[in-house]
Amino acid sequence: CGIIGITSLPNNLREPIGKVVRRCLERLEYRGYDSVGIAVIKGNYIEVRKGKGKIAEVSARLNFDEVNGTTAIGHTRWATHGKPSDENAHPHTDCTGNVAVVHNGIISNFLELKEELIRKGHVFKSETDTEVVAHLIEEYLKLGYKPFDAFKAALSRLRGAYAFVVAIAQEPNRLYFARNTSPLVIGIGNGANFVASDIPAFLEFTNMVIVLRDGEYGYIEPGKVYIERDGVPVNVEERIRLISWTPEMASKEGYPHFMLKEIHEQPFAINSTLAGINEKEFDNVVNLLLNSRKILIIGAGTSYHAGLVGDYLFTTMLGLDTHALISSEYKKYVNAVNEGDTVIAISQSGETIDTLVAVRAFKERGAKVVAISNVIDSAIPRESNYVLYTRAGPEIGVAATKTFTTQLVVLTVLALRAGIAMGRLSQDEYRNLMDSLNKVPGLLQNVITKTEGKVKALSEYMKSRNNAYYLGRGIGVPLSMEGALKLKEIAYIHAEAYPAGESKHGPIALVEEGYPVVFSILDDDNVDALLGNVMEMKARDAYTIGFVPEKYVGKFRELLSVTFELPNIDYRIAPIIYIVPMQLLAYYTAVARGYDPDKPRNLAKTVTVE
Ligand code: G6P
Repeated sequence: CGIIGITSLPNNLREPIGKVVRRCLERLEYRGYDSVGIAVIKGNYIEVRKGKGKIAEVSARLNFDEVNGTTAIGHTRWATHGKPSDENAHPHTDCTGNVAVVHNGIISNFLELKEELIRKGHVFKSETDTEVVAHLIEEYLKLGYKPFDAFKAALSRLRGAYAFVVAIAQEPNRLYFARNTSPLVIGIGNGANFVASDIPAFLEFTNMVIVLRDGEYGYIEPGKVYIERDGVPVNVEERIRLISWTPEMASKEGYPHFMLKEIHEQPFAINSTLAGINEKEFDNVVNLLLNSRKILIIGAGTSYHAGLVGDYLFTTMLGLDTHALISSEYKKYVNAVNEGDTVIAISQSGETIDTLVAVRAFKERGAKVVAISNVIDSAIPRESNYVLYTRAGPEIGVAATKTFTTQLVVLTVLALRAGIAMGRLSQDEYRNLMDSLNKVPGLLQNVITKTEGKVKALSEYMKSRNNAYYLGRGIGVPLSMEGALKLKEIAYIHAEAYPAGESKHGPIALVEEGYPVVFSILDDDNVDALLGNVMEMKARDAYTIGFVPEKYVGKFRELLSVTFELPNIDYRIAPIIYIVPMQLLAYYTAVARGYDPDKPRNLAKTVTVE
């Protein structure tokens, strides 16, 4: 879910606060979109407008844009407890209507709290776990607690993962917040302060941020930020970070969807990531790798696929004992990881709970952790021993695109630097590979320009298919896995990736006339084997699609129904370029099927529940 809170001096926002909250929520819509709501403090009561549906729909129906005030909260929901409905939409209020709460996460002991509150006469309006928070605060207010004390008392009763923002009518210029596991950031503006699930929400107003840490709570007022942890005030000044993201980065800038904009931004994002490489930080991590017995690379979804590419590079190029692992399956390795081992945790958001939990478990075993993330100061970087940042700018489309390619850039630079330090690469090899890497932004720009029209045409074929295979060998396997995931998650076409050599051991049984099979062919020693694999699919009348280096096009063209000619580039670097037309294929197929690629059903960008 996405939450936002704003407190502003009168007339400072120059437009109704309801409209500002609506815009902030639109930037958080990637976090959930089944229902939406706002609450605005009005003198001594709180006005709530909320309902089931997407932000645009609900805000137009309930006229969010006309609601005036100086203090407001808002929420866009991804249902966990209680189905999407008007009643279950946030904000939730107490019996008096003077306390309003928005929440992201899960309160694990809500049932027992609810029963206790019902016994005390509270009447509940929704099925959510969130509503207990409003009633708990009401209960403490009734006992005569001051609002902040009532908030803290309520907090002390809650178990689980949460981020909250709370408005209490008695204090019309203040919003309370608390973070435990679910992300929350504060934005310090001019005459207005913000608290939100993610930075893009308030980027239009400020780039001065504080990323809250677990266990922190406090309040914002128009000119004040107060944070506490275990009753001790936190030094707020020390925690302020200036981020280099601009408001344009968080808007569509004329593109129909964020995903398309983010695909097109990749040459720029890769450039920024290469330019932002801090030699010292990389050297520290290289040293760590050289002295590691074993390396685990963990991640979820697309970040796991980046981990598989990293695993391939580290294993084949460096000869390091490396394993990529899906974060939520970390338990398999807990007993096998010890002091002297390194864990590389990849997470664009830095907040994915599965990855965070694994990081904690491996740290406990004595391993050192290196985070690769796109969000400064987020939870996983903070809990890691070392951090390498990608510089992709905010990614808003749910399907990861530019964060994936920039993760690959960081992993590749790391592997190359380790290669030279270990003597596994000669100076010449290193220089050649770095030169190739530096050429990626320019080459990628050409690939996008050259392939987009053809991809669009292909999407007309793909849109009526129910299945697809994505095949490759070597480093082409994780590349295929990422291509398949993109198609699956936004175009809702079942897509499976597996190493091409496996076809005859089962999957080829499904292949019939017209069945799409997408081949990733790279300039490595698998080309001839892949030629055989394309032939065996062609022989079953499959619809064969190939992403092929120019120099091999002649070899494959006859066997391919559709051929994409891509640059001849070292196979270790190729995935950074070759994935992009596959991202475009998923995007255009989703659009051709009438789906919104930015907001795939049942998915959220940052998953903060296990
Ligand atoms: C969710 C998103 C995926 C993403 C994964 C990991 O499942 O839908 O697109 O790859 O989380 O996210 P992270 O922020 O940890 O990279």
